[in-house]
Amino acid sequence: MKVSLSILTADFSNFEKSVGNVMKESDYIHLDVMDGEFVPNISIGPAFVKSIRKLTDKPFDTHLMIRHPNNYIKEFVEAGSQYITFHIEADCNAKEVIDIIHSYGIKAGISIKPKTSVKVIEELLPYLDMVLIMSVEPGFGGQKFMPVAIDKAKELKELKDKYGYNYLINIDGGINDKTLPLVKDYLDLAVSGSFVCNAEDQIKNLNILKNM
Ligand code: DX5
Ligand code: ZN
Repeated sequence: MKVSLSILTADFSNFEKSVGNVMKESDYIHLDVMDGEFVPNISIGPAFVKSIRKLTDKPFDTHLMIRHPNNYIKEFVEAGSQYITFHIEADCNAKEVIDIIHSYGIKAGISIKPKTSVKVIEELLPYLDMVLIMSVEPGFGGQKFMPVAIDKAKELKELKDKYGYNYLINIDGGINDKTLPLVKDYLDLAVSGSFVCNAEDQIKNLNILKNM
């Protein structure tokens, strides 16, 4: 399994010491951007993303939990993102946002919240490089995995196989050694935050997921 490490619960006062080593072992780095409107929390912005770009060569998988994603694509491209994922529930024209992301020569993803069905994004699937299934309500790290995500992963895998789509199937929220086995057969990668970052031995926990 490929892992995208969410650094949301890292110690920001000593960031490099807190997650610098485990970032180097992860396949992707997942960056949670929150605006306090789309979700009831505020996190990091492009300046922070840019500043940690020098810590690793791993691809940045930027997850925009913001209301008007179209206004901020350029900033997160320039900050060093390889993937930018936004929410279908955000206030935007989704196809237009996908096209903006692609115009910068990087990969585009869409995320769906736990209550949003795959049907809602079905006609966009041919244009996507990633689908990010939320297995918690977005906004905070360390929440409990919601099993509603399992069937969506399965459905996305079936559609991908049937039509030969190119998107990576990713999942975000509550992923650990107990929950990843429930979905891993349908995924290309999985986000993990607190299970890895808050562990006594971060690299050990990362490897538990990578070896699944
Ligand atoms: C939630 C974020 C997640 C979160 C993952 O809104 O999108 O990426 O940080 O953290 P864990 O793995 O702790 O659920
Ligand atoms: Zn996320």
